[in-house]
Amino acid sequence: MLCGTSSSGIERSTTYRGPRLMYRIVEARPVGLNIKQFVIEAPRIARKQRPGQFVILRLHEKGERIPLTIKAADPAAGTVTIVVQGVGKTTSLLNCLEAGDSVLDIVGPLGRPSEIEKFGTVLILAGSVGTAMALPTAKALKEAGNHVIFVEGARSREMVVFEDEVREASSRSFIMTDDGTYGEKGLVTAKLNELLAAGQKIDFVLAVGPIPMMRAVSQITCPLGIRTVVSLNSIMVDGTGMCGGCRVLLGDKSKFACVDGPEFDASQVNFEVLMQRNAMYREKECESLKAFEQHKPEYLKQLRAELAAKEAELERLRGEIADLSVTNEAFHG
Ligand SMILES: Cc1cc2nc3c(=O)[nH]c(=O)nc-3n(C[C@H](O)[C@H](O)[C@H](O)COP(=O)(O)OP(=O)(O)OC[C@H]3O[C@@H](n4cnc5c(N)ncnc54)[C@H](O)[C@@H]3O)c2cc1C
Ligand code: FES
Repeated sequence: MLCGTSSSGIERSTTYRGPRLMYRIVEARPVGLNIKQFVIEAPRIARKQRPGQFVILRLHEKGERIPLTIKAADPAAGTVTIVVQGVGKTTSLLNCLEAGDSVLDIVGPLGRPSEIEKFGTVLILAGSVGTAMALPTAKALKEAGNHVIFVEGARSREMVVFEDEVREASSRSFIMTDDGTYGEKGLVTAKLNELLAAGQKIDFVLAVGPIPMMRAVSQITCPLGIRTVVSLNSIMVDGTGMCGGCRVLLGDKSKFACVDGPEFDASQVNFEVLMQRNAMYREKECESLKAFEQHKPEYLKQLRAELAAKEAELERLRGEIADLSVTNEAFHG
């Protein structure tokens, strides 16, 4: 809200109602090794989001656009929660930000919401940061009356996240670590095989995590005729179906993960093509990450300076809009 008295003496009380240009981080907290949870002001997205949808975020004007799943939203507070695993330059830079910082823009909610139905017994297999991505869908499936079994997998103890929330969002839950430092030792597929061998009835499977993990799950469940859905993390640019960057192959059909997904029937997904496409920029990504790690404080300083300049520009625009409103009011009496 901008308040003040103009030179014409007219009391002005002008709320800026144009598009939001900066998105303030109200909470930032590490939740695991290289994994951080952010609560960000984004009222319009918070009002509209549904489980399974995501946002595309840009840190600064020349920044990469990164897709991130909405873990939770609070329409009353006007905030969305995202969880970020630092894997490359942009996610690592984002994870350096703290409460009080801002990001340049967030677009969303994007993608089709998860299918929420009463399937019966639902098995959710989530790897690493995939746990945060699967949580809203798990909650909604439980609320829809499903018996939800949640298997969270992580490389080791320090990457196990949201254990309490997983327990709350499910009827039964298991934690697996590759190295056995927490929960049970083994991959999520070991628990899947164990449940199947014990005769566990499974009506629907959702797998969210690294591509090899989702492929391994579907290689077990699809031949058994268990309906399996995977959340595909293809490289995205615009997120609106225009650029073709996120193209995935389903059987002999091309689909865009941003508008047709990100969740797809696993039995149709060509995981090999997805892996090839996601590896296309690997060399460049490694170089950027290396440069970032060598100059981390400078990158962060530059980002904050750019955002401060943007904020100042925004303030100036707000002032101009306020003055225009005042002139308009004076003109129309
Ligand atoms: C719909 C969707 C939802 C996502 N939700 C989340 C989320 O909630 N939390 C989260 O931490 N990550 C999420 N991701 C992955 C995230 O977008 C990428 O990790 C991020 O774009 C990498 O950017 P970077 O510049 O840090 O890394 P880059 O330098 O671009 O890449 C570093 C490494 O990450 C891999 N990578 C690049 N882009 C992607 C991608 N889109 N998905 C997976 N791996 C990628 C590269 O192959 C490379 O190995 C999601 C991806 C999609 C498509
Ligand atoms: S990100 Fe451009 S078409 Fe999906």
